Amino acid sequence: MLRLGLSWYLQRSPRDVRLENNSRGKPFLADESVVRFNVTHSDGLALIAFTTAGEVGIDVETVDRAVDAMELASRYFTTGEVAMIAAGVTPREQASIFLRLWTRKEAVLKAAGYGIVSGLDTIDVSQHLASGVSLRNTQHKVAETRWMVRDLQAINGFVGAVAAPPGDWSAHHWQVSYEDVFDRVFERFPGTS
Ligand SMILES: CC(C)(COP(=O)(O)OP(=O)(O)OC[C@H]1O[C@@H](n2cnc3c(N)ncnc32)[C@H](O)[C@@H]1OP(=O)(O)O)[C@@H](O)C(=O)NCCC(=O)NCCS
Repeated sequence: MLRLGLSWYLQRSPRDVRLENNSRGKPFLADESVVRFNVTHSDGLALIAFTTAGEVGIDVETVDRAVDAMELASRYFTTGEVAMIAAGVTPREQASIFLRLWTRKEAVLKAAGYGIVSGLDTIDVSQHLASGVSLRNTQHKVAETRWMVRDLQAINGFVGAVAAPPGDWSAHHWQVSYEDVFDRVFERFPGTS
């Protein structure tokens, strides 16, 4: 699906989409391109973010996921985030806030290409999203980087977020079926199988 999506986006045969992974598993286009992408999947839904605005990270989680929000947050989240979750009145509301924060964090850590093993508390996503959040990754001794995060709205049953460098960008999403993408790519590149 990723190869087909990239073929569609780049208007290039799927055979000519060459992919490589960074040392932490983040896939990228092997040939020089301003196009960046990132993938997430959860419970039968896959999202692929495409952009020319710089590195991008995306995350989606199903809202039905049972989580002990306070327990997990107190172990892995910052104090600001824990306070935000604790403000939820019911466990269900706390879980919903937790998942929202989780997807923001994961989107940023995926944009940076580290993945979550670099430490969920290296970033605080409880506020100032519009002006950007800083990722301080002392573990990997890289300079602090700034990212802007947007929550993905209106995906029924799911919560999600996307992150990219600060700038004048917004996130739009479309839901397409595998068959639709395949048909379009096949129409344009009839040799595809
Ligand atoms: C990336 C990561 C956050 C994905 O978590 P997840 O919630 O299970 O999965 P998601 O559905 O959101 O994303 C999966 C996709 O992210 C992409 N991805 C993989 N590693 C990535 C990374 N380091 N950064 C950004 N994106 C990554 C892939 O396209 C992957 O798709 P695939 O599962 O079909 O291969 C997690 O696997 C991780 O932290 N990986 C880093 C592992 C690492 O550091 N390895 C070092 C070698 S020892």
